[in-house]
Amino acid sequence: MEERKDHLWKVAQEVEDRLDEMEKAGAAPAGIDVGTSKVVAARKRAKGIETASQLNAFIPIPYSRFTETILGQNDISYFREGDELVVFATATEKFANMFNAEVSRPMSDGLINPREKMALPVLEAIIGSLLPKAKTQGEILAFSVPAAPAGKEAELTYHEATLRRHFEAMGYKAVAINEGLAVVFSELEDNNFTGIGLSCGGGMCNGTLAFLSIPSIMFSIAKGGDYIDHAVGSVVGESATRVKVIKEEGIDLSRSPKDKVEKALHIYYEDLVESLVEALRRAMSRAEKMPKSDRPLPIVIAGGSAKPRGFKELFERALKGRGLPIEISGVRLAGDPLTATARGALIAAMYEK
Ligand SMILES: Nc1ncnc2c1ncn2[C@@H]1O[C@H](COP(=O)(O)OP(=O)(O)OP(=O)(O)O)[C@@H](O)[C@H]1O
Ligand SMILES: [Mg+2]
Repeated sequence: MEERKDHLWKVAQEVEDRLDEMEKAGAAPAGIDVGTSKVVAARKRAKGIETASQLNAFIPIPYSRFTETILGQNDISYFREGDELVVFATATEKFANMFNAEVSRPMSDGLINPREKMALPVLEAIIGSLLPKAKTQGEILAFSVPAAPAGKEAELTYHEATLRRHFEAMGYKAVAINEGLAVVFSELEDNNFTGIGLSCGGGMCNGTLAFLSIPSIMFSIAKGGDYIDHAVGSVVGESATRVKVIKEEGIDLSRSPKDKVEKALHIYYEDLVESLVEALRRAMSRAEKMPKSDRPLPIVIAGGSAKPRGFKELFERALKGRGLPIEISGVRLAGDPLTATARGALIAAMYEK
């Protein structure tokens, strides 16, 4: 035990030294979370970790000089692609509300959508708005990637390679980090990076069980906030976009639903959490060599879909109902669920040599 502590202290010291070295060289490591719903970048600054985010969305509109002028006057970010103007990032929401337009996405279910021709130009524009090119060759950038959902292994390969190429073209040494592991890095430092990190996002939920920062089980399900929005929308006869707004305005899962939309939101949130706990249970039961832990493990949950009041309690109830093959010490939410993955990626970048 003492030996392990000594070792960890040494690792922490090495990271500090490495950071000092990098700061002197003018190179700052960076972390980026390219999510279905949001892209979040994290950088180390003198005062601590700084994050910035953009909505991962766009709306193509036919080009005209008049429209271009209006966009410019309204501070709406766009670029021109052939005979189209592409409104992108967070400004998309403002534009969609102004014109009641449908929003498109470069990614779906956690991965770049290979059938969306605008996916790459939009992603590149969004990334460019959050992250400058590397100042020195070989600056380290860690980017999060999900675990492949069953049957989507080939799509994950495309997703990861596409992002890596782009980051390398920006001058970075790009390192991929699993999303659940990034949550462990950002939230479980006080537990020697040991425990289960979950990220409940827009397109997916990801989970990773790590011992001393080493991932031992990784899984994902292609269900997240988008699934809830669409499922609720179709049973109550509302658009998914409208349901998303109602949901984010503050659905409270800890009290009884008061109308049709809330009732449906409760039903599909329960469905999501049951699927997540079942996937976690199954991944653990399937694992051939589960490292033996002498202590119960904590679970920490991040991601925008974990934000509603009562989510943690809903998860705890599902956990009790299904049970896991290992003992859990407790469940908690990430300090800032929306930036945890990017922060964890940044920590991973700091560890890279
Ligand atoms: N306050 C809130 N209440 C409920 N849901 C929210 C809230 N804020 C964000 N969300 C939901 O969280 C989801 C986005 O979460 P997040 O930004 O973690 O996803 P992501 O990382 O982009 O996606 P993924 O990891 O699946 O690729 C969306 O479905 C959004 O509607
Ligand atoms: Mg995510």
